Amino acid sequence: MRNKRNSLIHLIYFSRVVLTADPAGRVRQVNDIARQAQKKNEFSVITSFLILEQNHFLQVLEGERMSVQDTFARISNDPRHRDVHIIEWREITKREFVTSFTTATRTPANEGLFQKANLSPMLQRGTPKAAAVYALARALQADTLAKQGIDHLFV
Ligand SMILES: Cc1cc2nc3c(=O)[nH]c(=O)nc-3n(C[C@H](O)[C@H](O)[C@H](O)COP(=O)(O)O)c2cc1C
Repeated sequence: MRNKRNSLIHLIYFSRVVLTADPAGRVRQVNDIARQAQKKNEFSVITSFLILEQNHFLQVLEGERMSVQDTFARISNDPRHRDVHIIEWREITKREFVTSFTTATRTPANEGLFQKANLSPMLQRGTPKAAAVYALARALQADTLAKQGIDHLFV
């Protein structure tokens, strides 16, 4: 049973990327993050979606409150990014994301979804809107699932 101490929450944050500029090195660094995060999130029953856009990370973390807090405490101290800001932190009734850690960046195939979300002006001005980040992460997940032919499981 859930109670107030371990209720289900999501936390959305954004940060500035501190990775190498070299594209191949950057892929390796993101893969390192994914490997660590996936293992830890599986253990803590965290589900998450990480977007890499215009030198910013935007991530949604879902799980029991204590697990999300512990995970975010580690993430916010990670030198691979800086200026880590929470956009939204709230109780949710159900999870929206199906994997412990998925990451997405702009590609020709999903360009339209990024354009529709229009995060750039928000990233330049200050804080992106939680609803915009959340909607983009959901749309990117739906797109990935549809390509895998398993979208009908999640309607
Ligand atoms: C953008 C970004 C996202 C991350 N996401 C997660 C995550 O979802 N879960 C997680 O456990 N670690 C995540 N990490 C890695 C943590 O910061 C940390 O390196 C990792 O949990 C290992 O922590 P430890 O060295 O204290 O064991 C992320 C790091 C970055 C830079």
